[in-house]
Amino acid sequence: MTPAIETRGLTKRFGGLVAVDKVDLKADAGETLGIIGVNGAGKTTLMNCICGLYRPDDGDVFVAGNRVTGQAPHVIAHRGIGRTFQVPRVFRKMSLIDNLLVPVLDRKARDAELIEHAEAMLERMQLIALRHNHAEELSGGQQKLLEMARMLMPDPPIVMLDEPFAGVHPVLCKFMIDRIEETARAGKAVLLISHDLTSIYRLSTRVIALNQGRIIAEGGVDDIRGNPAVIEAYLGT
Ligand SMILES: Nc1ncnc2c1ncn2[C@@H]1O[C@H](COP(=O)(O)OP(=O)(O)OP(=O)(O)O)[C@@H](O)[C@H]1O
Ligand SMILES: [Mg+2]
Repeated sequence: MTPAIETRGLTKRFGGLVAVDKVDLKADAGETLGIIGVNGAGKTTLMNCICGLYRPDDGDVFVAGNRVTGQAPHVIAHRGIGRTFQVPRVFRKMSLIDNLLVPVLDRKARDAELIEHAEAMLERMQLIALRHNHAEELSGGQQKLLEMARMLMPDPPIVMLDEPFAGVHPVLCKFMIDRIEETARAGKAVLLISHDLTSIYRLSTRVIALNQGRIIAEGGVDDIRGNPAVIEAYLGT
């Protein structure tokens, strides 16, 4: 089966620093690939290379078997990759509804249909009561939910989440976990970066551990949990 998303030998350098070093990964539809590693391991840079924010120095990215390497972020988004950011990037001076309409402005559907869809999405994220408020009025955790809702609007088959739980209250974390589970169950391939290993282990079908840009371990949750290289990278010897 062709994976929904695949990278081969993906590499990104900043001067002499190799931030992402020959990373091969794949995820199938309905699968959640956890991506772990200490601060600076290269997780966000990896996502930035996949979604086109950074041009990789080497290697390739494939969406459903088609090469998208080096294309512009909006082109790659149209090819089916949605993402959220470690620090949410919402349109602060726009209403929640308008935030959600941005990624679907070019759609042929009638305005009323798109608005209905946006409202259903806000309902699902428990943000519907705030639909006419400016995004800047939301809490940090709510902005993460809004960003997730906006990302899901065009129904991308591949979803990348960078630290969705960081700085989020445990109750909202639980809510977020349920939404991510739902997203994978709906058949999307999910790439999930998190320092919250409990949530990673709960959500992931497979995990890759990065250290200094390289994959140092990969496998099922049980393989990763007790893996000496992962423990050493996290805790030192
Ligand atoms: N735009 C950039 N210019 C120069 N160096 C960068 C840039 N972006 C990232 N780096 C470097 O690349 C390495 C990987 O950074 P990255 O942000 O990908 O780590 P991360 O695994 O996401 O860490 P964290 O868990 O703290 O978010 C770090 O050493 C970082 O300093
Ligand atoms: Mg990061």
